[in-house]
Amino acid sequence: MKLSYKMFLCLLLGLFVIYNFKIYTTKSDYGNICLSDQALKGETLWLKHNCHACHQLYGLGGYLGPDLTNIYSLRKKDTIYLQNIFNSGIGAMPKFRFNNTEKKQLTAFFKEIDQTGYYPNQATLEANGALKLRYKDTLYEE
Ligand code: HEC
Repeated sequence: MKLSYKMFLCLLLGLFVIYNFKIYTTKSDYGNICLSDQALKGETLWLKHNCHACHQLYGLGGYLGPDLTNIYSLRKKDTIYLQNIFNSGIGAMPKFRFNNTEKKQLTAFFKEIDQTGYYPNQATLEANGALKLRYKDTLYEE
C-alpha cells in the first residue's frame, strides 16, 4: 500500500514535469503575424522602457497615454513625427534618449503592429446578425 502511494506521487511529479516542460518550451502562437528582426528589436525597446506602462496596444496597457496600435497610420503621423516624439516627449510623455538605430527599430515595430489590424475593432453588422471584422489587407485576407 505504501509503495503504491509513493508511486502515485512519483507519477504526479512526472506529469507535472512533463506538463511544465511542454508549457515552457512550446512557442506562442501569434497566428501568421511575424515581426521582422528590426521590429522585434523595437518591441524589446518598447518592453525595456516600459512604454506599455502608459500606452496600450489593442487596448491593453497603461492608460496615461493613448493607444498606439494604429499610431503609424493614424492622423497621417509619419516616420519623422514618430521618430521625433520618442526623444522630444510631449505633455506627460517623458523624453527618451534613443539613437537613430533604436528610433528606426521602434518605428518598424509600430509600422508592423499597425498592419495587424484596427483598434478599436472596425466591424460591420451583416444581414444574418454576424459581425464582420475589418482587417488590414496586408496580412490577412478579408
Ligand atoms: C509616463 C508615461 C509614458 C511613458 C512611459 C511613455 N509615454 Fe508615450 N505618451 C504619454 C502621453 C501622456 C502621451 C500623450 C501626450 C499628449 O498628447 O499630450 C504620449 C504620446 C506618445 C506618442 C504620440 C501619440 C499621438 O497620438 O501622437 C507616441 C508615439 C508615444 N507616446 C510613444 C511612446 C514610446 C515609444 C514610449 C516608450 C519608449 C512611450 N511613449 C512611453 C505617456 C507616456
